[in-house]
Amino acid sequence: MNQQPTAFDLLAEHYDYWKRTVNLGDEYRKIVGFLPAHTESILDVGCGTGRLTLYLADYAKHITGIDSSAEMIRQATKNQREQSRTNVEFVHASVETWECQAHQFDFIVGDKVLHHTDLDRVLPRLRDLLRPGGRIWVRDWVTEDIARRRSPIWQYWLALREMSELRGHGLKVMWRLARFRLSPTWIHHVCDDDILSPQQTMEIYQRHFPGCLLINVGQQVMMLWEFPDPAKGTRRAL
Ligand SMILES: C[S@@+](CC[C@H](N)C(=O)[O-])C[C@H]1O[C@@H](n2cnc3c(N)ncnc32)[C@H](O)[C@@H]1O
Repeated sequence: MNQQPTAFDLLAEHYDYWKRTVNLGDEYRKIVGFLPAHTESILDVGCGTGRLTLYLADYAKHITGIDSSAEMIRQATKNQREQSRTNVEFVHASVETWECQAHQFDFIVGDKVLHHTDLDRVLPRLRDLLRPGGRIWVRDWVTEDIARRRSPIWQYWLALREMSELRGHGLKVMWRLARFRLSPTWIHHVCDDDILSPQQTMEIYQRHFPGCLLINVGQQVMMLWEFPDPAKGTRRAL
């Protein structure tokens, strides 16, 4: 892949520091609750610096994280080395064009990534990568007010609010986080994001994953779907 550096490339190390500082344990534990009963392989799409990928490594034989940012993958690989995880593979690839060598997966996750993609192109691809009986869990940003979301002032306000929630970490940590969250590169990035409304997002998810479970909490929509397994007859209730 040969492309212009994105905000994720420019800020990968800072992004990782942010993810390390914010306590994601509770969120990640909930995702573990969505794993199918027998999970051998997991795919983390748009894995970023691999925090969730590495967390899930305890729950599968093999886990693959892919990301279109070379720097995010570099940081993810560094994190993998630090944690001495041998059942994790990070691949620099975009989900649209990735030539998956392996197979299908039992569990696919995509956290806050799919808004960067053409959903009508990518969701069928993810469904094809899922094994019958497997599950897909995605979560993404939504907004009822795209004009506000695109406003730098609003984004500065959100960043400051988040900083104030992290004041318990001390001034040094907050200063480092502020340099990332308030940096023009990051603010421009989030202002440029194409974010759909909850209704638009849920309609697209439903179209590609009929019968999926959808939850809209504030600024995010979460979707869980199980690929019906003909060998097992009726599907288990999610
Ligand atoms: C907001 S970050 C989320 C990272 C990670 N899932 C997390 O929750 O920390 C979005 C990630 O998606 C990646 N990304 C964007 N478009 C992509 C694509 N088409 N294929 C693969 N990764 C993509 C970006 O490089 C970035 O690392």
